Amino acid sequence: MKGNPQILDVLNQLLADELTAINQYIVEAEMCENWGYDKLHKAFHKISIDEMHHAEWLIQRILFLEGKPTIKLNELLIGATVPDMIKSVTTSEASAVEAYNRGIALAQEVKDEGTADLLRKILAMEEGHIDWAEAQLDQIEHMGLANYLSMQSEGASE
Ligand SMILES: [Fe+2]
Ligand SMILES: [Fe+2]
Repeated sequence: MKGNPQILDVLNQLLADELTAINQYIVEAEMCENWGYDKLHKAFHKISIDEMHHAEWLIQRILFLEGKPTIKLNELLIGATVPDMIKSVTTSEASAVEAYNRGIALAQEVKDEGTADLLRKILAMEEGHIDWAEAQLDQIEHMGLANYLSMQSEGASE
């Protein structure tokens, strides 16, 4: 099915965002692993897998609309510390939420409900990522960074 060219452009821009996010979160997951923060490693790793699903779904949609998936990366923003990493999740996920909302509005305008449905499904997951990051920032504020980090190793109690 031939897709709207504007929609294909948006899908490719979102694909670049997702490919960037996968790489960013994988590096951050491994940095947390290296520091011995196993729970954060698992959390970042799980988010990176979500982003990989988003990239796959966008590629499937682009192909279905007879477009060509373009593979490019934006600049990676990798936090040097755990709080910076978590803050960068809130920043990049907030721009993802904006981008998906814009994409949904365009898809509705050009009457491409199939694309709108896919973008809504991804949007809900990006909101979940922000929710996770905000909860971590709240915990850091409530208990202090040292206490928060002491709970992130494998042996630490929940
Ligand atoms: Fe994503
Ligand atoms: Fe995300």
